[in-house]
Amino acid sequence: MALSEFLASLDNLAEQARAAFASADSSESLEAARIDYLGAKSGQVRKVQQGLGKVDKADKPTAGKRFNEVKNLIEAALAEATQQIGTGNEEITEPFDVTLPGRPTRVGHLHPITQTIREMKDIMGRLGFTAVEGPEIEDDWHNFEALNIPLSHPARDPLDNFYLATAEKLEKPLLLRSQTSTVQIRVMENTPPPVRIISLGRVYRPDTADATHYPMFHQIEGLLIDRGVTMADLKSVLRLFCQSYFGGEDKVHVRFRPSFFPFTEPSVEVDMNWQGGWMEMGGAGMVDPNVLRAVGYDPEEVTGFAFGLGVERICMRQHGITDIRALYQNDVRFLEQF
Ligand code: DAH
Repeated sequence: MALSEFLASLDNLAEQARAAFASADSSESLEAARIDYLGAKSGQVRKVQQGLGKVDKADKPTAGKRFNEVKNLIEAALAEATQQIGTGNEEITEPFDVTLPGRPTRVGHLHPITQTIREMKDIMGRLGFTAVEGPEIEDDWHNFEALNIPLSHPARDPLDNFYLATAEKLEKPLLLRSQTSTVQIRVMENTPPPVRIISLGRVYRPDTADATHYPMFHQIEGLLIDRGVTMADLKSVLRLFCQSYFGGEDKVHVRFRPSFFPFTEPSVEVDMNWQGGWMEMGGAGMVDPNVLRAVGYDPEEVTGFAFGLGVERICMRQHGITDIRALYQNDVRFLEQF
């Protein structure tokens, strides 16, 4: 066979194959066209390839090269047609009923602790307390020293605090704050009396997690400094706070038990009656004169009260949550109940 004749048959073949693939309108007809042209045994490409044997020997390299080019072109045309038509393996889609009501998008909501914090800020705001924030990484002065916790005090034990490793090299040790009382100091250092603030935030202690302990939890700290502040003011504020938070007006009572904190004198543990029992809420007391002096206040001029309550404890009692860990496992099935 003359070379020109063979090349003409190749061109013809490419033309026809491309037209056949392009005109296929279903994956079945495309498959039929594929077998017709590229079928391994008796496809047209195969047949034309057999004609290669009859080409003059001298022309074979040219003819063979052109054959390969045309075969590639045909395969590319098939790939393109397949892509346009799909392979027929896609899921068969249900007919779409446009009259069905839409599926609502699930909307998230605030974490129960965040909700509790917001409610607390709201209530205390109405009592005239401004919410302020303080850093979670604290120094020795704000977490201990200014709060009348001397160097020898066991509360400073490295086993009871998260000291930062880098702090070893520093002159002043740094730690994750173990209480929000730090914010009292920060505020008083920068504001002359009177002061009426709350601070809500995370605190950290190296406790092993169990149903009632977690190495991170939240406190609400309150501080009121003015002339002539008394324990009666403290008790009224806490009672109003509990009544507003839990509802039930005259059924809510607050009880003080004598206690000790280095930064208050006298100091009390605060309990609230709740569903027939007393629930521990935290600590409170009259700000110790040493603390007032440490921030430059004159204890002869002003007095004040402070309190620090556990946010988780209050939130858990309100919602009947029995394990603090559930709050931080981020299981949406649990959290979406609140
Ligand atoms: N800081 C104390 C604690 O974490 C709680 C506390 C007690 C805060 C008495 C106060 C207070 O402001 O007056 O255990």
